[in-house]
Amino acid sequence: MSRATAASISRAALRHNLAELRRRAPDSRVMAVVKADAYGHGLERVATTLRDADAFGVAALSDAERIRAAGLDNRIVLLSGFDEPADLPMLRRLKLDAVVHCDEQLRMLELDAELPGADPLCLWVKLDTGMNRLGFRPERAAELRQRLRGLPNVHADIQWMSHLARSDEFGAPNTPEQLAAFDAVLRDIDGDRSLANSSAVLGWPASHRDWIRPGGALYGMSVVDGKTGADFGLVPVMSLHTRLIAVKDVRVGDRIGYGGDHVCARDGCIGIATIGYGDGYPRLAPAGTPVLVDGKPSRIVGRVSMDLMAVDLEACPDARVGSPVLLWGPGLPIETIASAAGTISYELACGITRRVRFIDAE
Ligand SMILES: Cc1ncc(COP(=O)(O)O)c(C=O)c1O
Repeated sequence: MSRATAASISRAALRHNLAELRRRAPDSRVMAVVKADAYGHGLERVATTLRDADAFGVAALSDAERIRAAGLDNRIVLLSGFDEPADLPMLRRLKLDAVVHCDEQLRMLELDAELPGADPLCLWVKLDTGMNRLGFRPERAAELRQRLRGLPNVHADIQWMSHLARSDEFGAPNTPEQLAAFDAVLRDIDGDRSLANSSAVLGWPASHRDWIRPGGALYGMSVVDGKTGADFGLVPVMSLHTRLIAVKDVRVGDRIGYGGDHVCARDGCIGIATIGYGDGYPRLAPAGTPVLVDGKPSRIVGRVSMDLMAVDLEACPDARVGSPVLLWGPGLPIETIASAAGTISYELACGITRRVRFIDAE
């Protein structure tokens, strides 16, 4: 029998989340962010399910190639733009939009403009309004526009974007400050605007503008402290599940797993679930982290190992070899596990490894 560990991906949940984000930002178009293999959910299955999105946002040319190979002709935006001149013919062949965030890219475009017959590229200029990651200083907006407008290989309609550093902190002043910095330099400049990642869509309506760029929320995940995707009307897309492959009696004083950290306080029963950090479940999830066995609340005992973990069966007296174990998904928020492991939901979803079987669910 094949290993029971599997990630079920709900197409209905993806569609629901896209609809919910559209409901929250009715005047904006949606650039569905599907980088990092659609946050670990599988790029082709997510992109084909979200084919109604107005555009896809990707981090790598290879992602865009995969979307085109899946037969989709949606607009695709390469979020960190091109790295070398040889990327430009690829952008044209794949009909991609590119983000331009640095002077090296401008110079590549200027050299490209000298080549005969270079079709105009559709560009999104990225302004750094406070994230201090990618982007030009905002005060350069007018100069950049003039320079790009002078290039025959650049489409006349230029889009403007920025990325928000703390949109998940709904009370913090940073987001309004970033919005103000963006608006100040673009007052007299036309072109579509885009700022809002998932948290901004959920908590900062003033940031929605022409295009929202949600990633995590499409998959039902939240990075707002103390909140789950469900708190915002989102539905989890990934369920990570497996089965028990052993059920064992334990006696008071028995030690469980590597290091023997967990000492049984009473006689009882534990189950051994076939999942571990080799599947992407976080090793740092401590004893006590919740799981559902046969749909009933249980918890990890001892350390998570590469292929296995032990779970307490005190509250699950009917559990048997073969009983289903849910690690995260509906009824057990991924955010709860992420917080127990000292990380965020996105990292967990992105970290599922190749030996986990993916199941397309409706
Ligand atoms: C430029 C850009 N836009 C949008 C997103 C989507 O962010 P989130 O997944 O929080 O919605 C990301 C992700 O990091 C990004 O880098």
